[in-house]
Amino acid sequence: MKKINIAIDGPSGVGKSTIAKIIANQLDLIFVNTGLMYRCIGYICLKNKIKFDDEKSILDYLNKAKIELLPNEIIKLNNEDITKNLWTDEVSLAASQVAKLKLIREFCVHHQQEIAKNQPGIVMEGRDIGSVVLKDADLKFFLTASVETRAARRIKQLSLKGQKVNEEEILNNIIERDKRDSEREHTPLIKPENAIEIDTSFLTIEEVVDKMIKLAKEKMK
Ligand code: C5P
Repeated sequence: MKKINIAIDGPSGVGKSTIAKIIANQLDLIFVNTGLMYRCIGYICLKNKIKFDDEKSILDYLNKAKIELLPNEIIKLNNEDITKNLWTDEVSLAASQVAKLKLIREFCVHHQQEIAKNQPGIVMEGRDIGSVVLKDADLKFFLTASVETRAARRIKQLSLKGQKVNEEEILNNIIERDKRDSEREHTPLIKPENAIEIDTSFLTIEEVVDKMIKLAKEKMK
């Protein structure tokens, strides 16, 4: 089967990474979660007390650091796997702050395009994959679901992990990130031209995956 590039975009908590992981596995493609780069940069700001809008200091730090975005949801900062530190709400909000900055976006996009260039086929997920990072992707998906559905999924996911949840805080976090991601000046979250939109609100993960795999296999013939 021919290898292809698949771009998956959509808002926070819509299930992109869960779905991208399964699809990449079934189609024997590499899976890369680009949000990890913005999370890593948000984390760097929190740890080093750099202001989220201080583009110059962030870039100075990044130019001296070694960031490796690896397949299967792993990111290393100066050779240390820091992925497990990046899933807190604090880091999520920090990520969406630094993601507004033009030069930070350029830094991330360049890094992500280099990764894709060196792979025969890739499934990449984020907010600007079909519109910027992989503009020529063979297949583009735009996943959506209502804010309430996405918050309910996140609450369930955290509860299953045995974590205490504040439902209102989770809902507000998603609303805030949606607003920041879709209203920012530089490459906001949009449905890319010729992307296939799937509303996942009333579909199971399996149903979404099935739809996407069918379309991908057509392209891979
Ligand atoms: O996908 P995830 O929720 O982990 O991404 C964290 C944040 O990084 C998002 O809220 C968004 O602001 C930013 N992001 C982005 N472009 C991407 C991936 C993530 O702006 N391609």
